[in-house]
Amino acid sequence: MKFYLAPMEGITTYIYRNAYNRYFGGIDKYFTPFIASKKMNRRELNEILPEHNQGLCVVPQILTNRAEEFLQIARKIAEYGYDTVNLNLGCPSGTVTARKRGAGFLGVLDELDRFLDTIYTQSPLNISIKTRIGVSSVDEWAEILAVYQKYPVAELIIHPRLQKEFYQFTPHKEAFAAAAATLSDIPLCYNGDITSAQSLSAVLDAVPQTDCVMIGRGILRNPALVFQLKEHKNTNPCPKELLKAFHDEIFEGYAAQMSGETPTLFKMKDLWTYLIESFDGAQKHLKKIRKASGYSDYKIAVSHLFLECGIRC
Ligand SMILES: Cc1cc2nc3c(=O)[nH]c(=O)nc-3n(C[C@H](O)[C@H](O)[C@H](O)COP(=O)(O)O)c2cc1C
Repeated sequence: MKFYLAPMEGITTYIYRNAYNRYFGGIDKYFTPFIASKKMNRRELNEILPEHNQGLCVVPQILTNRAEEFLQIARKIAEYGYDTVNLNLGCPSGTVTARKRGAGFLGVLDELDRFLDTIYTQSPLNISIKTRIGVSSVDEWAEILAVYQKYPVAELIIHPRLQKEFYQFTPHKEAFAAAAATLSDIPLCYNGDITSAQSLSAVLDAVPQTDCVMIGRGILRNPALVFQLKEHKNTNPCPKELLKAFHDEIFEGYAAQMSGETPTLFKMKDLWTYLIESFDGAQKHLKKIRKASGYSDYKIAVSHLFLECGIRC
């Protein structure tokens, strides 16, 4: 089984990826959060700079519905030595889909087809796709698959939810099974709600030949998840010191990169939304972390949490 870390805007940054790789590892491929500006801003460039991704297998992700824009970004990415880019056809957020980008692009299949035709003909790089299964009905999926089938898709990562479902309800595993039955030439990767050995088994029950999964929130909540899945030790808790060292490295990374305490703490608080799940009875500590307005309050709140709470996973 291959394991990929899901791209998550603002969270799975190069700072997170490097710390993750150092303390946990076991990830076969990392994906950058989406790049959406054709001139590539500083934050986007930071994600792809080779010196920020040493020793990692990284695929930059692009979010656009304009072929020329895609090609411009892909050419720039190619200059940094990458061989593959990923196209985001999964983002469900209203601001993205209103402009027919991300999962919203799935609602205008003719346009998507023309876009894919251009980029697959002219891109200097291989193109993988990360997709949802439709906008508002599972009936859309068969036609979407028929479009993908026309192109040399390097890899198709399927998050089998509809755009309108956002992150709710259970992923439609039967849609992933339909893709596995239809697309014999495109390597597939399953994504969505893998948080334990049981949820991974449920995917394997639906599609026994699954050999690649992408995990996002499950890893953010329990950074030891991939290790546990590989070792079949769901109950083996992650050592606290390891988690603390991992946290500290991310903190130091942001503190060195960001301009000031407030933006650094903003990043760390985002991460804690997920990481708090690694601890038992930590809600009161989470409140203190969220309230912290400077490094010293923050560090005190975090050290109390590590001292007083046990590891859950
Ligand atoms: C806060 C947040 C940011 C995300 N950012 C991106 C992104 O930049 N690109 C993308 O393809 N998916 C993005 N996703 C979706 C995840 O990559 C993934 O598909 C989704 O979380 C389902 O996988 P999971 O259940 O393992 O978390 C984001 C999800 C969340 C919750």
